[in-house]
Order: sequence, then C-alpha cells, then structure tokens
Amino acid sequence: MCEQRTRLGALVSGGGSNLQAVLDAIAAGTIHGDVVLVISDRPHAYALERARAAGIATAVLTPDAYPSREAYSQAIADCLQQASVDLVLYAGFMRIVTREAIAPFRGRMMNIHPALIPSFCGPGFYGRRVHEAALHYGVKVSGCTVHFVEEDVDGGPIIVQRTVPVLEDDTPETLAARILEQEHQAYVEAVRLFCAGRLRVEGRLVRILPERPVGV
Ligand code: GRF
Repeated sequence: MCEQRTRLGALVSGGGSNLQAVLDAIAAGTIHGDVVLVISDRPHAYALERARAAGIATAVLTPDAYPSREAYSQAIADCLQQASVDLVLYAGFMRIVTREAIAPFRGRMMNIHPALIPSFCGPGFYGRRVHEAALHYGVKVSGCTVHFVEEDVDGGPIIVQRTVPVLEDDTPETLAARILEQEHQAYVEAVRLFCAGRLRVEGRLVRILPERPVGV
C-alpha cells in the first residue's frame, strides 16, 4: 500500500483501553495510520501513560483554564490542527465539545458509545449510567456503536455496531466488561475502514465501500 498513512489524534479522560486497541492494531499493521497526538482533560489519566509508552506526543488541556466551553473546544481544535491530525478519536473523553472543535473535523471525528444508539445515549448517558439504564429497561441485547461526531450528542452517522447478550444476572459492571471487549474490535474496524478510505457518508447512512484491488 503506497497511499499516505492517516494521522490520528485521540481525546481521552480515563483508562484508554480503546486507545490501546487502536495502538495494537497499528502495531500489527491492521490500521494504515499513526496516532500522532493524545489530548486529555485529566493530567493523571492512565491513557496518557499508554501514549507515552508508545512514544506518542501528549497534551493536557484542562477546561477550568478556559473561560467557556467554546474557548476550550477551540483550544482542542487548535492543538489537533497544529499536529495536522486527519482523524480525531474520542476515546473515553468525558467532555462534550462545541461546534468550535467539531466543525473543522466534520466527517473526521469518531466516538464510541457503550450502547446500541439510538438507545441509552445522549446527554447524561455515560459510563455506568448507560448500563444501569439498559438493565433497568430489561433489554435482552446491548452493545456498542462507533459513529461520527456531530453537535447532537451521540447523534452522528453510525459507522459500526456490535451486539452482546444481556444476561439475567448482569450488573452494570459485568455488562460493561462484556461490551468493552466488543468496543475494542468495533473501534479498530471503524478506524481501519476510515484509514483505507472505505467510508462514505450519505446523509445519515455511512456506506462501507468495497476493498480496492491492490494498485488501483
Ligand atoms: C468506553 O466504554 C467508551 O464506550 C466510553 O468510555 C469508555 C472508555 O473506556 N465512551 P477506555 O478509556 O477506552 O478504556
């Protein structure tokens, strides 16, 4: 493959297991790209350690250093643009950014959500709350969704979804763990397809283009 490698930037707040899955897939040659910058809103996020261990540049941008959410979002966009990032990965980033960060990366910013969108998503549905809501509702399947980021929280076009069964004795923790395993595969798949130029957004539909023959 001779086409340029995609430059990836990741936004993180926590453990960074999805970031690690992407890094592992890059190392294995599955993803034709490189993570060039990892930004966190929390200085002690373990995801930053993972980035440093992989020799990746990191930045910590804390929201309280900015007068508004818009100014914070602009700072994130500036940082990503300075690093010439092609694709932004929300990877467990616990902040909602505004248009200032989204518009420059429209169609080039992904998020992973631990439920089957449009269920159990939107403002207030994050972390344990998502799984509590799914168990409370009594659904028989849950899963994860990778989607492009739009201003409407969790509302952008869906790229990949994977399902898991919900068991009768599940707790939010056991369900979260079962879903997280699938998240790692789903995120790698979505990033792999983007980097191979195989995603085309048509309104709400993300079309997955066939693999191109070598040399074409
Ligand atoms: C994942 O469950 C993801 O769906 C959600 O935040 C969690 C991040 O986990 N947005 P990790 O930091 O990637 O381990």
